Amino acid sequence: MTHVAYVNGRYVPQRQAVVHIEDRGYQFADAVYEVTCIWNGKPVDHAGHMARLRRSLGELRIAVPMSDAAFTAIIREVVRLNRIKNGTVYIQVGRGVAVRNHPFPTKAPKPSVVITAKHGTGPSEAIAQAGVKMIVHPDIRWGRVDIKTVGLLPNALAKQAAVEAKAFEALLVQADGVVTEASSSNAWLVTKDKTIVTHPSTHKILSGITRATVMKLAQKAGYTVQERTFTLDDVYAAKEVFLSGTTTFVLPVVQVDERIIANGAPGEITLALRKAYLNYVNGLDDTAWAV
Ligand code: PDD
Repeated sequence: MTHVAYVNGRYVPQRQAVVHIEDRGYQFADAVYEVTCIWNGKPVDHAGHMARLRRSLGELRIAVPMSDAAFTAIIREVVRLNRIKNGTVYIQVGRGVAVRNHPFPTKAPKPSVVITAKHGTGPSEAIAQAGVKMIVHPDIRWGRVDIKTVGLLPNALAKQAAVEAKAFEALLVQADGVVTEASSSNAWLVTKDKTIVTHPSTHKILSGITRATVMKLAQKAGYTVQERTFTLDDVYAAKEVFLSGTTTFVLPVVQVDERIIANGAPGEITLALRKAYLNYVNGLDDTAWAV
């Protein structure tokens, strides 16, 4: 089936979709994006993704190209045209096209907007139930990774290293030993006293939309959640380790480099949170499109 993309006001077959060679997203990574999950035809945390997109645009002083309602209408049309039941939508908004020059163009160009969709989400239930392996990788990203920009080369290099090591993800560690997150998901651990820990929402991590939902579900289930920094040693000593993200949902981690986490099986709190998350997404209805 031919995929259809929305590109600057038009729905076009993806093979024919093109952007300008002087688009600042292409030349300077001067663009932001969102990836959202479509589950049973319903969007997961749509309003949260829209809010983060607006925040990212605001941080870079890129004009918001349209209302949330207009974005939503286009996303729904891209989902419909591509017949997505379970899949992802990619939304990219850039500063636009201008003759190459580092500062912002004096006359602001029209922001570039591209929206695509694809079938399929993250790892299968069988993989989730077995748990995945991660590698440790230095976090060499810039200081504002809270802004979801398309400047993802360090993330891509880390993920490539993981793939080459037959691992699912790369756990990013700063020079001071602090674990920030993973290359395309947030990292969590459960301590021996059953406290759930994840890095605070600072400039050093992407504040995941899934992370926020998982935090709410965990608190609702009566768990203690702490947003605090932790080190690799804390990871090795953890009772459980897991990841969260739009495509990963809640995913148990059972090995980090050569170290086996706890007994090498997914932890009970992680599996309970995964179940709670699956219940949440399975319960979505058409009101999930509200913004
Ligand atoms: N990545 N951290 C990083 C660096 C990410 O790229 C992502 C998402 C997350 C999780 O955020 P969320 O729960 O909002 O998906 C954390 C998307 C899926 C991607 O780049 O494909």
